[in-house]
Amino acid sequence: MKEIKAIIQPFMLQHVIDALKQIPDMPGVTVSEVKGFGRGRAENTDKSVTAWGTSVVPKIKLETVVADTMADKVVHTIQQHAHTGNIGDGKIFVYPVSQVVKIRTDESGEAAL
Ligand SMILES: Nc1ncnc2c1ncn2[C@@H]1O[C@H](COP(=O)(O)OP(=O)(O)OP(=O)(O)O)[C@@H](O)[C@H]1O
Ligand SMILES: [Mg+2]
Repeated sequence: MKEIKAIIQPFMLQHVIDALKQIPDMPGVTVSEVKGFGRGRAENTDKSVTAWGTSVVPKIKLETVVADTMADKVVHTIQQHAHTGNIGDGKIFVYPVSQVVKIRTDESGEAAL
């Protein structure tokens, strides 16, 4: 299993989510509002705000854990649908996941996704 974590532009969220929901067997997605900075240090952009005493830009974080066989498809779907070509489009990180437990059913592993 893989965890895919994507930091994207907030205004691209609906477009990305619509595409992810169309992937058969897409198990689920966690969405969070986050703030951060990249190489531009959240400077020279009208989207930056001050938080925690420093300059940051609001972003959306998507987290999903999927079967290994689905990981490339999910990464490419996010990449295609979050892309504007402008600075600040965000990044996608992929991690191995060692275990998942579904609380309601006691299932574990891929069956729990
Ligand atoms: N290496 C990183 N580790 C953790 N979070 C990151 C990293 N790079 C970017 N982020 C997060 O992603 C957000 C968007 O990053 P961004 O797309 O601006 O990266 P960048 O490297 O500056 O690229 P660009 O040149 O397109 O602006 C940042 O505000 C931050 O929250
Ligand atoms: Mg940047």
